[in-house]
Amino acid sequence: MICGGKPLDRDEPEGTNPAYPASGKQSGATTWRCKECHGWDYRGKDGVYSGGSHFTGIIGIQGAQGQPEEYIMRTLRNEQHPYTPEMISDVELTRIAAFVSRGQIDMTTFMDTETRKVNAGNASRGREVFQTTCAACHGFDGRMLDWGNGDESNFVGTEAVDVPDEVMHKVLSAHPGVQMINLRAFPLQDAIDLMAYAATLPTE
Ligand code: HEC
Ligand code: HEC
Repeated sequence: MICGGKPLDRDEPEGTNPAYPASGKQSGATTWRCKECHGWDYRGKDGVYSGGSHFTGIIGIQGAQGQPEEYIMRTLRNEQHPYTPEMISDVELTRIAAFVSRGQIDMTTFMDTETRKVNAGNASRGREVFQTTCAACHGFDGRMLDWGNGDESNFVGTEAVDVPDEVMHKVLSAHPGVQMINLRAFPLQDAIDLMAYAATLPTE
């Protein structure tokens, strides 16, 4: 089955990350996620998480772009990042460091940070990309997989409208623990066009 995997094939960390700011509103396992402090748009307090329930006041990771991977790996073992090798091994850390150094994109090229809405891209070209790649698993209208809970459905369309920065991150980096493709080998414009189309798909 392609659903239901776990990030790094491991159980979630127990308890709140001791490095998570006391002023933050989140608690528990989510406080270990990079995005909780730095945002899906990689811009921390200067991006989508500049306010609201995910605000921490922590900077983004864009300043680390182009830094040597060894340097980034050391950062990810410092007191602000109390990940043990059992939680993230050195080998796994090299991949995260490669992403930080070379994999970030500027989300403001297709999304308004204030409204968190897609505001660029060619939806008809995006339709071609979606229908020939994503649709195989997510269905032609994005509703074949539903990761919502209870009565609330969560489809590609729902997330593209609500959290396009998260969807873009997954389009370029896939989804942890499941078999999903990514569009890294294609021009970034294809992913931007895809976002414009995904935001037109049914949300419920
Ligand atoms: C609990 C909050 C928290 C989490 C979770 C977190 N970080 Fe950080 N991170 C910080 C803080 C605080 C800093 C230091 C910011 C400063 O210097 O002002 C930082 C700094 C960084 C920097 C250096 C940025 C720079 O320009 O110097 C990178 C890169 C980074 N984090 C990557 C990550 C990655 C990748 C993850 C997930 C594996 C992660 N962080 C998870 C809080 C967090
Ligand atoms: C080979 C199958 C496959 C393909 C192709 C695929 N996905 Fe996925 N995708 C998945 C699976 C499986 C999940 C996990 C769903 C779950 O958690 O129930 C997922 C998750 C996601 C999620 C995030 C769910 C969450 O929890 O936030 C998004 C967004 C997404 N896919 C978008 C896309 C887009 C856009 C494309 C095309 C570029 C795509 N996927 C292509 C299998 C696929």
